[in-house]
Amino acid sequence: MNHRFPATAVALVLVALLVGCRPAPESGSWTENGRDLGKTFHSPLDQINRETVGRLGFAWEFKPGTDRGMESTPLVVEGVMYVAGVAGRVHALDAQTGRPLWQFEPPLDLKNSRAACCDLVNRGLAVKDGRVYVGAFDGILYALDARDGKVVWKTDTIVDRKLSYSVTGAPQIAGSVVVIGNGGAEYDSRGYVSAYSLADGALKWRFYTVPGDPSKPQESAALERAVKTWQGRWWERGGGGNAWDAITYDPQTGLVYFGTANGAPTSLTHRSPGGGDNLFVASILAVKADSGEYAWHYQQTPGERWDYDATTHLVMARIKVQGADRDVLMQASKNGFFYVLDRRSGELLSADPFVPTTWARAIDLKSGRPVEDPAADYRQGSTAVLRPSTIGAHNFNPLSFSARTGLVYIPSVDVGMTLKEPATLAPHLPQRFETGLQMSLAPGGSASLKAWDPVARRVVWEMPGSSFMDHGGVLSTGGGLVVQGGLDGTLRVFNDENGALLKSIDVGTAMIAAPMTYRVNGVQYLAITAGSGGGAWSLWLPGNVAALRGNANRVLVFKLDGGATPVPPLLPPVPPPPPIPDAIGTAADIKAGESLFAVNCSHCHTNLPRGPLPDLRHSMIVHDASAFRAVVKDGRLQARGMPRWDDLLDDTSMEQIRAYLIDLARKAGKGR
Ligand code: HEC
Repeated sequence: MNHRFPATAVALVLVALLVGCRPAPESGSWTENGRDLGKTFHSPLDQINRETVGRLGFAWEFKPGTDRGMESTPLVVEGVMYVAGVAGRVHALDAQTGRPLWQFEPPLDLKNSRAACCDLVNRGLAVKDGRVYVGAFDGILYALDARDGKVVWKTDTIVDRKLSYSVTGAPQIAGSVVVIGNGGAEYDSRGYVSAYSLADGALKWRFYTVPGDPSKPQESAALERAVKTWQGRWWERGGGGNAWDAITYDPQTGLVYFGTANGAPTSLTHRSPGGGDNLFVASILAVKADSGEYAWHYQQTPGERWDYDATTHLVMARIKVQGADRDVLMQASKNGFFYVLDRRSGELLSADPFVPTTWARAIDLKSGRPVEDPAADYRQGSTAVLRPSTIGAHNFNPLSFSARTGLVYIPSVDVGMTLKEPATLAPHLPQRFETGLQMSLAPGGSASLKAWDPVARRVVWEMPGSSFMDHGGVLSTGGGLVVQGGLDGTLRVFNDENGALLKSIDVGTAMIAAPMTYRVNGVQYLAITAGSGGGAWSLWLPGNVAALRGNANRVLVFKLDGGATPVPPLLPPVPPPPPIPDAIGTAADIKAGESLFAVNCSHCHTNLPRGPLPDLRHSMIVHDASAFRAVVKDGRLQARGMPRWDDLLDDTSMEQIRAYLIDLARKAGKGR
């Protein structure tokens, strides 16, 4: 569907003026995660524009030497590009040529990668006053010297190493502190954000997002109120509500804003038997940057039980709401609604579905609560298809708010799911994936890039993605362009007013991150990190070019009159599987192995002939008991990201998993 954009000069001028009220970086650089403090992912640069974009070509590329998900958008400060790489690596490059200046590789205990629901990704850096800040996957926050990458200070942001936290989000500088959250709700953790002094890394404040053990005093007055919305013994599994994605800082209000994830476990029945809103899961929170004191909250999904995190990045803008100018926060949430809030008070100003939503048809603006559909309540045994799915109508992949058009460009997904609740939960074990739900994606589904008018509250145009998970991050520019990278390996440039495709460049590597643009010595460049992965890394679907050309990570840079873009060669044909192994174990072992595999391994291993990870059905390592132990128990491949399980799986369990995988191999072999 392709609608025309009703351009009115008045609206454009208005938006440009209003957005201009905020301190903006020098137009050629990209100094914040999102370019500006408002996280607009919009640049005014216009050398690359609708007239010239036909000449866009390859300038340079940098290969970090990794092959996982790349979710970060590079920063460019004073001619240097800083890229957040896998698990918190940092690559500093000459922004004109791509020449590597330095690289930082955090020393990690990769055993923690068991707590990676969604790959060893990192979503960005903060740069200020000659320092680069990065949160490594294991939760250590580093301040690096921007000249050489040497560690100036480091601090451990994890409160309890027995729980299963990970850090994948970008740190945010807020006045004299740097603020960082964490992930891990699927592994039974308790969400919080922490703020550290820029000067020396000393902890300034910490804000917990969900209450702890009610027999002890809560850490804040806000939590003393929140604890009344919980039941049962949630704190034993952490409670979740992690702030794992972007954090926004507003110097005008002095507030830090962030969204929180689902609770732990995701099932409300198991988390808080008897129900309750469970504050502050699936909420937007505002806390004071200087003290960490609670300012306001808005809970999007009370009693969250669909995996509808409220974590996607929050955009600051000044827009018309019912004719009056308001300073707002905007979010396209995983739950399918586009929210506009007053950013001083947290008042809900509008909430409209930007994809079909079946769990709730609307949000009641008075109460701020969703109008849930009782017929879709899976707790009552409903098998109705729920939309959106756990993938989210919009996930971490950044959207862009254009100062030129006043439109928000949302990489969106419309796919359904069904949910079931098992009667009992597996016992809590550290670093074990547990949602308390069985989720199946419904067949069909689609992704599209949507231009959303936040004032008129409607879709203005949309362009279909190449496959249903094709929802890469988005950049918009002063050149009248919207830019998005695809899972099919094409970089696409659209007309920001009507979605017409103006240019497509085949780069041969799947992209999920948002592109950015910068200018050095009068030349405008466009950059994007490439490499598929993240929450979708298990969904190595047809349509993902990685299955054809691999997934070696790249930083790709383009400019006008550049050259032809190199495309990685086709992978060799899949080798024939090894001989069918003899069966091991009993039928009961195979069944036990299946459930052990489901909770410990399946979120990484999908056993596809050409997936991101080896197909374990046809792995010689699986067919050999001692090789299997060396990998799974002793961590032989840990440096490659395969965690070790010496503490969680005994020998019997390991043989049961092997029996299950060999059974799969035998079933697959029968078809040959
Ligand atoms: C956090 C993600 C993750 C989880 C969870 C995980 N693995 Fe892996 N696994 C990997 C990665 C990454 C590799 C590939 C390493 C490489 O490229 O050599 C791998 C490789 C392997 C291999 C080697 C296969 C071969 O032929 O090279 C085996 C066997 C294996 N995993 C078994 C398991 C089992 C069993 C579990 C569950 C107990 C498990 N893995 C859980 C990430 C994971």
